[in-house]
Amino acid sequence: MKLLAIETSCDETAAAVVENGRRVCSSVVYTQIEEHKQYGGVVPEIASRRHTEHIHQVTAQALQDAACTLSEVDAIAVTAAPGLIGALLVGVNFAKGLALASHKPLVPVNHLRGHIAANYIAHPELQPPFLCLVVSGGHSHIIEVQDYTHFKVIGRTRDDAAGESFDKVARSIGFPYPGGVNMDKVSHLGDIHAYHFPHPKVDGSPYDFSFSGLKTNVINLVHNAGQKGVEIHRENLAASFGHTVATILCDKLFLAARDLGHRTIVVAGGVSANSQLRAMLTERCKQAGYALYLPPLNLCGDNAAMIGAQGYYELMAGNTADMELNAMATMPLDRSFAEMAKL
Ligand code: KG4
Ligand code: ZN
Repeated sequence: MKLLAIETSCDETAAAVVENGRRVCSSVVYTQIEEHKQYGGVVPEIASRRHTEHIHQVTAQALQDAACTLSEVDAIAVTAAPGLIGALLVGVNFAKGLALASHKPLVPVNHLRGHIAANYIAHPELQPPFLCLVVSGGHSHIIEVQDYTHFKVIGRTRDDAAGESFDKVARSIGFPYPGGVNMDKVSHLGDIHAYHFPHPKVDGSPYDFSFSGLKTNVINLVHNAGQKGVEIHRENLAASFGHTVATILCDKLFLAARDLGHRTIVVAGGVSANSQLRAMLTERCKQAGYALYLPPLNLCGDNAAMIGAQGYYELMAGNTADMELNAMATMPLDRSFAEMAKL
């Protein structure tokens, strides 16, 4: 079973051909980062326009690299939620056109489910059930992956996502967008104990996160230092902040794993590329005797191969859509597109 997959939820225009959910025949990613950098973040309208300009070429390249034609693929998978609405609509409409013209099934894919599925590509032996930490620019979740298409949300952020807090703190100390990556690059030159940041208290669920207070704390520290003419040591701040975020994520994740009896831990989303988080997870999983699965760096960020991987399992579960499929800016990860359409 070969799927042509399309991803346009944020600032990457991507297409891929994936076989049986596990083998990547081709994967093309056109990133718009350089253009958005000058504005300090993603400008939604620019993102939509660039997707519109590049989606055809990126898709044609993915088919060519996989040495197959549209008539040879078995289905068209597309990210339909969550993400920037204008950006998603470009991919959804393009995928609909392809499905209509080729008489192939159209498979809508939740972007976050796609991030989780990146691990199926990298780790052939990995199968649900497992506990997954999903950390991206817009989301931070602890998810129980019960099977390929059934998920239970165990914990979530109450405010900012982990990646968002990295980006906002990075911006306050002058790093270009996307800040998380740039903070990570210098963090190993700094001292994790140089700055002490309090861990946020979250009422209610012990598995929920909150990053907004921590982010504000750091930004206030930077502003106060600026007013007093005190220099901020960027490497130390990057190291201390990264260490704090990694500790908060790991503490909640390992608490959930212990309470729910999971011994297989999977990590997904852009922030799973963070070296401090990867090191801490590796160390703590080793201590606890848990199996740890991390996506390789080239599959941490947005790509269409992961959408093709999840799309295969959605197709197997009969989760296809008709030509009325619409994109959604937000969507709970544990709901199907069919359920959402009925609401
Ligand atoms: O999953 P992703 O590519 O896009 C979304 O679905 O949001 O995640 C992007 C986020 C950005 O906030 C980016 O700064 C963050 O992931 N990120 C990192 C690193 N690489 C990407 N944050 C910390 N350390 C990294 N190495
Ligand atoms: Zn993403």
